[in-house]
Amino acid sequence: AFEVELARTGRVIAVPGDQTVTQALSAAGIFVPTSCEQGVCGTCLTRVLDGIPDHRDLYLTPEEQAANDQFTPCCSRAKTPRLVLDL
Ligand code: FES
Repeated sequence: AFEVELARTGRVIAVPGDQTVTQALSAAGIFVPTSCEQGVCGTCLTRVLDGIPDHRDLYLTPEEQAANDQFTPCCSRAKTPRLVLDL
């Protein structure tokens, strides 16, 4: 489990191990557009302001993943206890 912090409001939302980031966000009333939900299409791409994502998508290039400034919350997770998102 880890947390996501929404930079625009300061809200912090826990992401349990059995939920994706987009599921945890939507349960909290925050809706990120999704399509494939498998890390392929890039629809859900979200900017990461702090923390290190655990990239599990096939959409970003290795170089883009290594930059750690965006991730796909439909499937990717976190390597740090918290990610700060541009939401
Ligand atoms: Fe397709 Fe996240 S919804 S990559």
